[in-house]
Amino acid sequence: MAGEPMEYDDFSAYCRFSPVALAVREAVRLAAVRHLDLAEPILDVGCGDGLFAGLAYPHRQVWGIDINPVEIKRAQATASYSTLICGNVSHVALPRGFFGSAVANCSLEHVPDLPEALANIGRSLRPGAAFALIVPTPEWSRHLALAELLGRVGLHRAATAYGNALDRVFRHIHLQDDRWWSDRLREAGFDAINIRTIVSRATSWIFEMFLPPSAMGWAVKKLTGRWIVAPVLRGPSTELSWKVIEQLYRVLPDGDSRSASEYLIVARATGRASGHSIGEGESLPRES
Ligand SMILES: C[S@@+](CC[C@H](N)C(=O)[O-])C[C@H]1O[C@@H](n2cnc3c(N)ncnc32)[C@H](O)[C@@H]1O
Repeated sequence: MAGEPMEYDDFSAYCRFSPVALAVREAVRLAAVRHLDLAEPILDVGCGDGLFAGLAYPHRQVWGIDINPVEIKRAQATASYSTLICGNVSHVALPRGFFGSAVANCSLEHVPDLPEALANIGRSLRPGAAFALIVPTPEWSRHLALAELLGRVGLHRAATAYGNALDRVFRHIHLQDDRWWSDRLREAGFDAINIRTIVSRATSWIFEMFLPPSAMGWAVKKLTGRWIVAPVLRGPSTELSWKVIEQLYRVLPDGDSRSASEYLIVARATGRASGHSIGEGESLPRES
């Protein structure tokens, strides 16, 4: 794909279960994390419906944790996880020094007790284990097409209101810069922190163009817990959307790292995180 690395297979797999706007971002995230060498067992934090782990780490031993029982139920219906935990990652008991790695795809920006969550994840990892997380940049909504347009014609408050409205819809709690994430990770006992930006401005604009038709999926998800009610009907529209997206990448400006909208952060657990987690003789969560 011109402009942004992503695979048609990932995009079409996502389109079977989610709106095009989300599928295009997820395909970019998948391309960014798939090459990471994550040792098993992998802890998937805020796992959602399991589609991400199923595509990124097929046939690997992955545990999923999510606070939302509807998402856990949907993840249970997939073959993505060996074990599923329904609970709050900030407080749920996890086995200490057990996981070979962890991944959090667009989940930690929603977690209010972030220091507790990072410490809990850190304790559950073996020393030296990798932790990969994707979170939005603080300026992600400023680089959307409508926000830029409003800003250019002097409607700065309208541009800010537009971004704030999207943050409310997506329930973003932490919109912070790379230094802030790095500091929180260090405090929680991680080191070797590497941060780069992903999801170009062109991808953000394409995401935004597909938001209005995706609003229907959002309403359906609120009612049924699923974005798409009949995945079999999605085939032809997926191919058409892909062709449109290819053309859009040819004409839209890519932007640079400052206008990218997400961070991919990879850190290493040091084994120095403190506090309680499950030790020998205590019970582990039930296998799904
Ligand atoms: C934007 S979704 C991402 C889902 C999934 N990672 C994916 O890639 O499709 C964020 C997920 O984080 C979960 N989440 C939010 N707060 C959480 C918490 N405190 N503990 C565990 N999961 C949480 C939500 O229920 C939701 O499924």
